[in-house]
Amino acid sequence: MLKLPPLSLYIHIPWCVQKCPYCDFNSHALKGDVPHQEYVDHLLADLNADLPMANEREVTTIFIGGGTPSLLSSQAMQQLLDGVRDRLPVSPQAEITMEANPGTVEANRFSGYQQAGINRISIGVQSFSPDKLVRLGRIHGPDEAKRAARLAASLGLRSFNLDLMHGLPNQSLDEALDDLRQAIALSPPHLSWYQLTIEPNTSFGSRPPVLPDDDALWDIFSQGHQLLTAAGYQQYETSAYAKPGYQCQHNLNYWRFGDYLGIGCGAHGKITFEDGRILRTVKTKHPRGYMQGRYLDKQNQVENEDRPFEFFMNRFRLLEMMPKQDFSDFTGLSEVSIHTQIEQALAAGYLSETATHWQITQKGKLFLNSLLELFL
Ligand SMILES: C[S@@+](CC[C@H](N)C(=O)[O-])C[C@H]1O[C@@H](n2cnc3c(N)ncnc32)[C@H](O)[C@@H]1O
Ligand code: SF4
Repeated sequence: MLKLPPLSLYIHIPWCVQKCPYCDFNSHALKGDVPHQEYVDHLLADLNADLPMANEREVTTIFIGGGTPSLLSSQAMQQLLDGVRDRLPVSPQAEITMEANPGTVEANRFSGYQQAGINRISIGVQSFSPDKLVRLGRIHGPDEAKRAARLAASLGLRSFNLDLMHGLPNQSLDEALDDLRQAIALSPPHLSWYQLTIEPNTSFGSRPPVLPDDDALWDIFSQGHQLLTAAGYQQYETSAYAKPGYQCQHNLNYWRFGDYLGIGCGAHGKITFEDGRILRTVKTKHPRGYMQGRYLDKQNQVENEDRPFEFFMNRFRLLEMMPKQDFSDFTGLSEVSIHTQIEQALAAGYLSETATHWQITQKGKLFLNSLLELFL
């Protein structure tokens, strides 16, 4: 029997002061001012259109991502979150995160965001090296990043996160570890530590920089992982580390195949219905079209044959034990339907199991694509 998973809400803010050369997120360099009021009105109209899908279910987490949400004024944030709360039941314990770029952080705005209901801030630090920040096209230096982190810590939020990247152009092992040490010294409850990937359709994609080779990347990962573990951070996903009790609930819901409404330019949504349908939605990507009121770009149903792959593609990112029951609860399929594939995965050493749980092994992580192919 299919069960409805928890429901989250993602809100996309599509502007940045300038475009970073490595970034392929749906973000556009700002020309002129942010249309605060107009965009919030569109977000709420977009949400109105999605409300029938939510069917009055309670929202357990909200994530305001970008782009650079910290370009939005605190008044606009207040209006946006008030508008959300007027339309949907938001759990009183909901984790409400917003992303912030250190180059756009102002002290009084941060406390305004907090008053609006934000209880978790995710700060895009990337590196503490002045040279690397220039090479990454960032609009801030290391001091602004530290100031933003201290400000987040001083507000007494439920949690805050720092985003760091490693494997940067010409980065040495020492430089990568030094970034981690400086981040750890700021005591964030959560640390996202991404390996830089070169994406097509970015400046780095057309003119690739020289990156550390595979051996150097492995040294950075293994020694960095040790440093984080020794400082009390537990890895719970490929790039996500948290102090115990501080995992990002919003991302956990994605990776556990939870439901989410997605509003704003290019936002993705996934909704399960009582009758067993699972629907994916994609909103209009470009602010121009979106702000003409054309919100929904595409929607499609997730057919039964595609559900095992989609479920495991998300779920295998997490290192936690996975209750077998979640598979049938959230896909509506019986465990028997994937019996052969699970047996193959166990035989290949990609998975281990107990009577009630599956868990991905070290080998499974290393050969993730082969493991996932079994479910295609
Ligand atoms: C959508 S950005 C949001 C943060 C905010 N816009 C900022 O940059 O300060 C989320 C994070 O993804 C990471 N990221 C973006 N592009 C990446 C890439 N090509 N490789 C690895 N990590 C990347 C960065 O750490 C970034 O902070
Ligand atoms: S500020 Fe963040 S979202 Fe904007 S271009 Fe840079 S990495 Fe991408």
